[in-house]
Amino acid sequence: MLNGLRVVLGVSGGIAAYKACALTSKLVQQGAEVKVIMTQSAQEFVTPLTFQAIARNPVYTDTFDEKDPSKIAHIDLADWADIFIIAPATANIIGKIANGIADDMLSTTILATEADVYIAPAMNVHMYAHPAVKRNMKTIEEWGYRFIEPGEGYLACGYVGKGRLEEPETIVDVIKKDQDKKQLLAGKRMLISAGPTQEKIDPVRFFTNHSSGKMGFALAEVAAKWGAKVTLVAGPVSLKTPANVKRIDVSTAEEMYQAIHTHFDQSDIVIKAAAVADYRPKVTYEDKMKKKDGDLTIEFERTKDILKELGQRKMHQFLVGFAAETNHPLSFGEKKLKSKQLDAIIINNIKTPGIGFQSDTNEVIYLHQSGETNHFSLATKQEIAKQILMQINKDIKVD
Ligand code: CTP
Repeated sequence: MLNGLRVVLGVSGGIAAYKACALTSKLVQQGAEVKVIMTQSAQEFVTPLTFQAIARNPVYTDTFDEKDPSKIAHIDLADWADIFIIAPATANIIGKIANGIADDMLSTTILATEADVYIAPAMNVHMYAHPAVKRNMKTIEEWGYRFIEPGEGYLACGYVGKGRLEEPETIVDVIKKDQDKKQLLAGKRMLISAGPTQEKIDPVRFFTNHSSGKMGFALAEVAAKWGAKVTLVAGPVSLKTPANVKRIDVSTAEEMYQAIHTHFDQSDIVIKAAAVADYRPKVTYEDKMKKKDGDLTIEFERTKDILKELGQRKMHQFLVGFAAETNHPLSFGEKKLKSKQLDAIIINNIKTPGIGFQSDTNEVIYLHQSGETNHFSLATKQEIAKQILMQINKDIKVD
């Protein structure tokens, strides 16, 4: 299955565009989320509506059709993709890619993506054998893009030979095999916390922080895609549960403590990305507090330090904390790593623009208890999650 895999499918203008509809359907049936980009010529063969209906996602046809002002569509789509397939790929799109030409939505997005790229060519047998096409394919292959070679058979132009788009089933099989190889965390049981906590003052008011939960959810999503069995303990956030993730919703630090401790023993890797309140109101009022003249003082008491207790309780678990700092991030982070007996800590300086709580991007230092540091520079939280999990996977093999 391709559960939760984010696929961008680029359709260029050849008669085999009709087969891309079947490919979209097969990918969707396998659990992938598919977003389609069509070139102008592709739309001469099939309408965008066909793909929209099969993928149940909008189809992209124009680089300048920016529907969401907070994003740049081709960059957003390029970042979103786990894999990028071009099927059918004409001689023209192959030539554009090989030469870095970005003059439409498809060629622009492919330049911007860091996803794994698959290209399934389809064209006339002589076009396919032309030295220009061969050279362009060789250039592209050297960058690590993978070609799914066309099959031999009857071609729409009347010739019989190599040039027919590989069957959608075969394309899906190639992708599934590659994804299976990527199951870096297969068999690992992961416990991840995310989001803020809310500490009630009365039925109307609470004490909380700016955490959006995006980093913890990105970690859960990537870990599940890489084969881990993930339990996500989430504070109050408005985020979709990633595919194949068991989610437990909590509200207060005490509820998070209970949920985390209940699942700790059965976990191999524990990542505490949640921003837990360190204090809660000493008294929670049953009824709404009415305003009075003068100032108001609310007394707070400490909550339990969940991570610190996990550090003391730890057996086989690889325990990872987060440190949100506004100054001296590395030295404060190092202190937390030691005092909470962690295996690693992810440190971010939330004062740096573009990173931190509400943002879609992050930049972090991964500090291992050996003192070794890795700096993961500004990227989407998804990309940072991949780098963190890749590093954890290396560290658990050594530890
Ligand atoms: N943490 C926790 N329980 C708490 C407070 C924090 O489990 N009551 C965890 C967080 O989930 C995070 C790590 O401890 O993984 C560090 O949290 P942070 O808020 O950066 O630091 P604190 O330990 O609260 O220290 P300080 O407020 O002094 O920075």
